[in-house]
Amino acid sequence: MRKTLLAVAGLALGGAALAGLLASGALERSVVSRAVETPLGADQIRALAPRGAAVAAAADCYACHTARGGAPWAGGMPFETPFGTIHATNISPSAEGIGGWSRADFHRALRDGIAPGGRHLYPAMPYTSYRGMTEGDVDALYAYLITREKMPVANRPNGLAFPFDQRWTLSAWNLLHLPAAVAVPDPTRSDLWNRGRYVAEALGHCGECHTPRNLMQGLRGEAALTGAVIEGLEAPDITPAGLARMGFAPASLARFMGTGLSAQGGATHQMFEVVHYSTRHMPQADLAAMAAYLFNRDAPGPEADAAVPAAAPAPTPLAAAVSDRARASYDGLCAGCHGAQGEGIPHVSVALRTNAGLRTASPASVVRAVLAGLPAQTFPGGERMEAMPGFAVDLDDAALADLTNWMRTEWGGQASALSPQDMAVIRAAITPRHAARD
Ligand code: HEC
Ligand code: HEC
Ligand code: HEC
Repeated sequence: MRKTLLAVAGLALGGAALAGLLASGALERSVVSRAVETPLGADQIRALAPRGAAVAAAADCYACHTARGGAPWAGGMPFETPFGTIHATNISPSAEGIGGWSRADFHRALRDGIAPGGRHLYPAMPYTSYRGMTEGDVDALYAYLITREKMPVANRPNGLAFPFDQRWTLSAWNLLHLPAAVAVPDPTRSDLWNRGRYVAEALGHCGECHTPRNLMQGLRGEAALTGAVIEGLEAPDITPAGLARMGFAPASLARFMGTGLSAQGGATHQMFEVVHYSTRHMPQADLAAMAAYLFNRDAPGPEADAAVPAAAPAPTPLAAAVSDRARASYDGLCAGCHGAQGEGIPHVSVALRTNAGLRTASPASVVRAVLAGLPAQTFPGGERMEAMPGFAVDLDDAALADLTNWMRTEWGGQASALSPQDMAVIRAAITPRHAARD
C-alpha cells in the first residue's frame, strides 16, 4: 500500500514537473526562422498579396474562416470534435482578427500552432499540415490577409469540456503529434512529384480528412491517406491502390479535383466544398502535380486518360432473384435520372456504371446518398447537377440491400452480400448533415 502511495506521489510530482515544463513552452520545437522577425515593407506587401490569394485558395483558408452567410474572413464556422465544439476565428485585419499581428506572429500561428501570447491553437486549425508551408508562401498569405477589409466581428466562444479547454495541454499534444522538422524536397524524385507532395500535404492538407486519427486525434502517419471517418462520412482511401480501386487514373483525378466531376462521379458533401473553395482554383500544373504525387509517379500519366471514358469494371455474379428485384427498383426509381444502363445524363446526373462510390469496400456513402439524397450542385464551367431526392420511404431495408448489392456487383465489379441489417445500421446513423440541403 505504502509503495503504491509513494509511486502515485512520484507520478504526481513527475506529472506536475512535466506539466510545468509543457506550460512554460520549454519543449516547443519551432520551425519558424529568425528571418521573419524583420517586418515586411508596404511595397513588399503590395507585391506579395496576389500570390497570397492563390496560396489561400490552395490551402482552403476561406472555407473554414468564413461562416456561411457571414462576413468574409470574420470566422464563426463551428467544428464538431469528439471533445466539443471549436469555432474558427476572425482572421481579417481588424482588432478581433490579426490586425495587430506581426509577420512573425503569423508565421508562428500557421506553422507552430501558437498565437501571440503563447496561446496554443487547437489542431482543428490544420497547422500540422501547414507546418510544411514555405516561408515565401506564408509571407504571401500574410500580405494577402493583412490587406483585406477589416471585419469587426467578435469571436464565438468554444464549447469544450475540461480538460480540453486548457490550451496549454496542447503542448503535450504537439510534442506527440507535430513533426519536429518539415519535409524537404526529395532529390531522388522529380520536380513534379515534389511539387505534388507540397500541394497535397502542406497546402491542400488532404490527410487532415483522409488519414485516420488515433484516440488523441493525432494523424496516424503509418496509415497516411488510407481513409477515415470525418463528421460521420467516409473520406475514402486515396493511396495509389485506393485511387485505382475507385477507377481513377492521374488525368481523371486531376480533372475531378479541378472540376468536381469525372466519370468516377461528382464531388459530394465535404469533398464538394474542398473542390468548390479550393482545388478548382488551383492552376492546371498544380492539379497535375498533385495527381502524379498521389499516384506516386514522377511523370504525368498518359495524356489520353481524361479523354477516354473510364471503362466500367467487369460485373461479378449475383443470384438472379436478387438482380431481378433490384432491376425493378432501379427502373422504377432511378433509371429516369441515371439512364437504363447507368450511363448518366449530361447536366442532370452522374454515371453510375463507372462510379467510384460503388467500388469502395464500404457501402456507407452510396447507401447514405440513396436514403438521404444529394443537393443540387453547380460546378465550374457552368456545369450543374440536379438534386437527387432521398428514397428512405420508397425503399425498405430488404429492397435497399438488393439494390445496393446489385449496383456494387453489376457496376462496381466487386462481390457484395450486404444484408437488410447492414442497411438498417447505415439508415440509423443518418443525421441532417447528410441530407440534401436546399
Ligand atoms: C479545417 C478548417 C481550417 C482551415 C482550412 C484553416 N483554419 Fe485557421 N483556424 C481554424 C480554427 C478552428 C481556428 C481556431 C483554433 C483555436 O481556437 O485554437 C483557427 C485559427 C487560426 C488562426 C489563429 C487566430 C487567432 O486569433 O487565434 C489563424 C491566424 C488562422 N487560423 C489562419 C488560417 C490560414 C491563413 C489558413 C489557410 C492557410 C487557415 N487558417 C485554414 C480552422 C481552419
Ligand atoms: C474536409 C475534409 C476533406 C478534405 C480536406 C479532403 N477530402 Fe477528399 N473527401 C472527403 C470526403 C468526406 C469524401 C467522401 C465524400 C462522400 O462520400 O460524399 C471525399 C472523397 C474524395 C475522393 C473520392 C471521389 C468521390 O467521388 O467520392 C477523392 C479522390 C478525394 N476525396 C481526394 C482528395 C484530395 C486529393 C484532397 C486534398 C486536396 C482531399 N480529398 C481533401 C473529405 C475531404
Ligand atoms: C432526380 C434525379 C435522380 C434520381 C431519381 C436518382 N438520382 Fe442518384 N444522383 C442524381 C444526381 C444529380 C447525382 C450526383 C450529385 C452530385 O454529385 O452533385 C446522383 C448521385 C448518385 C450516386 C453517387 C453518390 C456518390 O456519393 O457519389 C448514387 C450511387 C446514386 N445517385 C444512386 C441512385 C439510386 C440507386 C437511385 C434510385 C433509387 C437514384 N440515384 C435516383 C440524381 C438522381
